[in-house]
Amino acid sequence: MSEELAKEIEAANADLEGKTPQEILKWAMDKLHPSIALAWSGAEDVAVVDMMVKINPEARIFTLDTGRLNPETYDVIDRVRDKYNMNIEVMFPDSEKTEEMVRAQGMNLFYKSVDNRKLCCKIRKVQPLRRQLGTLDAWVTGLRADQAVTRTALKRVEIDEAFGGIIKVNPLAEWTHEQVWDYIKANDVPYNELHNNNYPSIGCAPCTRAVKEGEDIRAGRWWWESPDTKECGLHVKEK
Ligand code: ADX
Ligand code: SF4
Repeated sequence: MSEELAKEIEAANADLEGKTPQEILKWAMDKLHPSIALAWSGAEDVAVVDMMVKINPEARIFTLDTGRLNPETYDVIDRVRDKYNMNIEVMFPDSEKTEEMVRAQGMNLFYKSVDNRKLCCKIRKVQPLRRQLGTLDAWVTGLRADQAVTRTALKRVEIDEAFGGIIKVNPLAEWTHEQVWDYIKANDVPYNELHNNNYPSIGCAPCTRAVKEGEDIRAGRWWWESPDTKECGLHVKEK
């Protein structure tokens, strides 16, 4: 990262202190559209879709279709596409690499070891993300600091060294789960039906389950792993 860019990002974080997600997005989109796009998971980060489209109807949204998503997730992707009359940029994994992995390790390889799980996330999510980010100057996420122990140091704007030094904007960094849901309800934003069935956090179907009363919001993600390995490589540097 150049020293100049590092200073710019530091100054941006200082300027954006106490600003709303919409103000953060407006700052980023004025500066970077159309070389900036939201990575939308098909879950509660749909609030960011709504905010971005209201700032600029031409806002770019992409989603990583791992091939293992829940039917409810495909459903909300189409509902959002229809409501906002927009083209969601759907990214698929490389078919040859996916075939090779599944033939060698099985359909549900992720339950067998953390290494297998990371391999699946790498092929189905991280590599398609890398392909998309290679065409952009910045990406937007729905990450929040309160989501996980691995995310407490999250900033509003970052340099993403894991993806070639691209700018990463996290407009919801300071928001709570409740604030996101107040926004979704107040703005009548379409949301994933699984959220009505005790799925506060949603990833791929075989790797997400409902949470029980009192459990952490990410307890249903890769529930067989310990909390410190529960990142798929989208938001941590691949080892
Ligand atoms: S994950 O790393 O554990 O899978 P999480 O589900 O919390 O991530 O989502 C955090 C952010 O990562 C989302 O708000 C979104 O920006 C991005 N993201 C996660 N999964 C996807 C996906 N399938 N497609 C696009 N973006 C995604
Ligand atoms: Fe594969 Fe599960 Fe990762 Fe989805 S979340 S890419 S199914 S290991």
